[in-house]
Amino acid sequence: MITFSDSKEFNPSCLVPLFEQADWSRGRTVEQTRDMLLHTDLAISAWDQSRLIGFGRVLTDYVFRASIWDVIVDRDYQGQDIGTQLMNRILSHPSLHQVELFWLCTRNRQAFYKTLGFSDKEQTGMVWSRKRI
Ligand SMILES: CC(C)(COP(=O)(O)OP(=O)(O)OC[C@H]1O[C@@H](n2cnc3c(N)ncnc32)[C@H](O)[C@@H]1OP(=O)(O)O)[C@@H](O)C(=O)NCCC(=O)NCCS
Repeated sequence: MITFSDSKEFNPSCLVPLFEQADWSRGRTVEQTRDMLLHTDLAISAWDQSRLIGFGRVLTDYVFRASIWDVIVDRDYQGQDIGTQLMNRILSHPSLHQVELFWLCTRNRQAFYKTLGFSDKEQTGMVWSRKRI
């Protein structure tokens, strides 16, 4: 049975194998992951027993804006509605009930996010990358 949690009190090394599966998160260390969790406002994780198989997190002011980051489902578990459940748990989380606008960026998962009600009509994002400069 797959269970979901909004606790950040898990061993950050559980996340590293999941991060290894995506090109945008590959190479993240346990130390970086620990720091990231510490400073993240909301983290939702999905578990198969003790195996972390899905993750997504939020940075927010709890009123006006929230950004969603690092949404990922283990490739062995994709296509089983787990990504949808993770996202719905974020969007309906009681701590975020006031937030008027959720923002995320995606290169090639627009179809997935559109099923959840996201729009890509407002193309306003710009990025500054430390790696690129
Ligand atoms: C994107 C991701 C989180 C989706 O998780 P998932 O658990 O496989 O998604 P679900 O099973 O909940 O699928 C929900 C819907 O989105 C669709 N969907 C999922 N991935 C899709 C994709 N790559 N392209 C098009 N549609 C997709 C599914 O077909 C499903 O639609 P349906 O209900 O009409 O069948 C997962 O594929 C993943 O981790 N990918 C690699 C990391 C990544 O790219 N993350 C997103 C960063 S922005």
